[in-house]
Amino acid sequence: MTTTNLILIGVAVVAIFGAMGAFAIAFRRTSRDTRPDWESQVEPDARRADQSLRGVRVEPPVVAEPEPEAAAVTTAEPEPEPETPAEPEREPVGVTVVEVQRVVEVSPEEAGITRRQFFNRALGATFGLWGAGLGLGFLAYFWPRVSGGFGADINAGNVNDIIGELRDADGNVVPLFIPEARAYIVPAPARLSEQFEGRQVEAAGLMALYQRCVHLGCRVPWCATSQGFECPCHGSKYNEIGEYFAGPAPRNLDRFVVEVTDSNDFIIHTGTIVETPRAPAPSVEYPRGPSCI
Ligand code: FES
Repeated sequence: MTTTNLILIGVAVVAIFGAMGAFAIAFRRTSRDTRPDWESQVEPDARRADQSLRGVRVEPPVVAEPEPEAAAVTTAEPEPEPETPAEPEREPVGVTVVEVQRVVEVSPEEAGITRRQFFNRALGATFGLWGAGLGLGFLAYFWPRVSGGFGADINAGNVNDIIGELRDADGNVVPLFIPEARAYIVPAPARLSEQFEGRQVEAAGLMALYQRCVHLGCRVPWCATSQGFECPCHGSKYNEIGEYFAGPAPRNLDRFVVEVTDSNDFIIHTGTIVETPRAPAPSVEYPRGPSCI
């Protein structure tokens, strides 16, 4: 299993779990009433007082009727009373206003969701959807394109036409670059080193090298004078069939599985990248002239 496949599987798993988490958070239902039990935290005296108020109705104010004055029994003028300081007027007594407090238990379904629950779920759903979108974006980026382009099988053209373009008049190699495949087609030597045996990287005397440097991914250009690939980023060098020669690159240039069809077309399977270790004994001489870097 290649590194790309592992990444695809990992991203798919993350995306699926992200989507599941989002839906679980957004649509979860509480199986029990999670409201805080305030009554258990109230002081016993306060609770008794509260109980005493339950069921009491609001009584209208009671106003005491004034006592009827006694009939006068004499016509004698009353003696003037001694003057006393006037007392302040008092509020009428006997008025009681009591609020009726009733605690009505309702089910979670009747109560609906609280504002806090709503925001918690909205936040969870937002993060979940964001994660799922991110995962799907990665998946879309890495997913091999089956309808053409890099990641699919690329038809580079007729084998004879390709071979005719791979050398100049002096017999020097001129790799054919295939942009859709991001690959250089180069002539394979008559005898390949054993690291390529059984890897299906040669067909009709041709190989397809991935343009990407195996050190840190720069595009590696061809150097006509040295007859090799030389990376301008950190100086890795490879011979004409991409075997490691110098620099920080850890292995040979990667290459693709190739085949020739019945109609003699050269097919590059860009969805299958073949990695090979540094060649212990290069198959092709390098350099054959001045370096480009
Ligand atoms: S990326 Fe090519 S040598 Fe570093």
